[in-house]
Amino acid sequence: MKVDQEKVDLVIRGGTVVSPSSSIKADVAISGQKISAVSSPGILPKAEYEIDAEGLYVLPGAIDSHVHFREPGYAYKEDWATGTAAAACGGTTSVFEMPNTNPPTGTLEALALKQECASRQAHVDYGIYGLLDENNIENLEALIENGVSGFKCFMGNTFGDLPAPSDGAMLEGFEILSRHGYRCTVHAENPSIMARRQARMEAAGRTDTLAHLAARPEVCAVEAVGRAVAFAEWTGARLHIAHKSSKDALYILKDAKARGVDVTVETCPHYLLMSTDDTDRLGGQMRVNPPIREPGHAEALWEALHDGTIDMIATDHAPHQPEEKDSKNIWQCDCGFPGVETQMPIMLTQVNQGRLTLQQYVQWSAHAPAHAWGCYPNKGVIQAGSDADIAIVDMKSGSMIDREMLHSKSKMTVWHGFQTSASVEWTLVRGAVVVEKGVLVGKQGHGKPIQQKMPTPAPRNQEKSMEEIVKIRD
Ligand code: NCD
Ligand code: ZN
Repeated sequence: MKVDQEKVDLVIRGGTVVSPSSSIKADVAISGQKISAVSSPGILPKAEYEIDAEGLYVLPGAIDSHVHFREPGYAYKEDWATGTAAAACGGTTSVFEMPNTNPPTGTLEALALKQECASRQAHVDYGIYGLLDENNIENLEALIENGVSGFKCFMGNTFGDLPAPSDGAMLEGFEILSRHGYRCTVHAENPSIMARRQARMEAAGRTDTLAHLAARPEVCAVEAVGRAVAFAEWTGARLHIAHKSSKDALYILKDAKARGVDVTVETCPHYLLMSTDDTDRLGGQMRVNPPIREPGHAEALWEALHDGTIDMIATDHAPHQPEEKDSKNIWQCDCGFPGVETQMPIMLTQVNQGRLTLQQYVQWSAHAPAHAWGCYPNKGVIQAGSDADIAIVDMKSGSMIDREMLHSKSKMTVWHGFQTSASVEWTLVRGAVVVEKGVLVGKQGHGKPIQQKMPTPAPRNQEKSMEEIVKIRD
């Protein structure tokens, strides 16, 4: 391969470059923000900055479709600097950030506030989710014009207590998004079932850790996933199912995909690796929506990753302060815990244990989300012309996860004490070294909004949409 020596700023030499279909020994040249060549070992010219990746693996940086960075509104839990520092140190080079901040990202003013926080502080590239709720349907197009990456619809209550929209508003929102080809992520749990069960348990005096799980049985997800798929299929809106936690709704997603519905699905490390067997050890720390379930679900989620029903791994990074997770009364513990920094070492440890291959890891952590969010091949792949978003990992050096070492403001990780067998050594974001030998060296403000180009919109049944039916006729 011919590379213009003048222009090569950085070479990663001696590593094994991984894609979903291959692992090959290759050197990587970076010019400015882009990868300029991936070449056989030893032939690239010397660059000013050289990374010795001998014995290491060179992966596309992870793309996390589900993080909560809390700003504006709850910066004491996390801010964009600490959240994206955690991402970078975990080999994650792009994040999609959720709208349950304060104010929620459902108006142009709220979006502008968040964009300001992000652009000033981010270490990694980011997309910002707009909110789809009962009262902001008329804002959706303006949010698109002003740069949101997709939308989030909280069908069930969770941190922030944003009320679920009515089915009517959700369908109308999907009609609008379908015309623009945007993807809507849903928190798919049925709110009325959960509220009723929680109220009855609280009235009966149940405050134990497992009461949270009892309030949110699998049927909540079965119903909500089914409803979201019905609306997406009817309107042609693209759909993304957040944090799949149980085996029960998988058949709906498998069928929907077989019918050609554009639905993508994520699961998270805690659903793949934990169960109620961890309840005694973790107590209220473990409270998360949807809940971590009984043994038996994780195996089905792994299987669904392997058969393509689940497309990707996200973290649902949901930081809170220790005192917010520390009550004996489960209803007083905030839901969620951080995860963006620990995802890659934990999942690579699973690679070492033979539960997935490194190539599958790249598929599920980078390639699939890049496709789902319209940023492939700019992101999600190591090839000439792509953004130089890269994680260089050592598959032979693990450590015990120590919450005090994490960059998140939240030290309440359920992964404290978890033994990993792999580590993230270097992270590059658009050509800039952001993490060097495990140490954050990047500058706040380097992260930029992710450039997306979603495939051509494919709206359906528009003649029956709200926009059409309100037109006056004779
Ligand atoms: C998330 C949070 O804290 O923002 N909490 C959680 O339990 N997962 C919200 C969410 O993604 O549901
Ligand atoms: Zn959620």
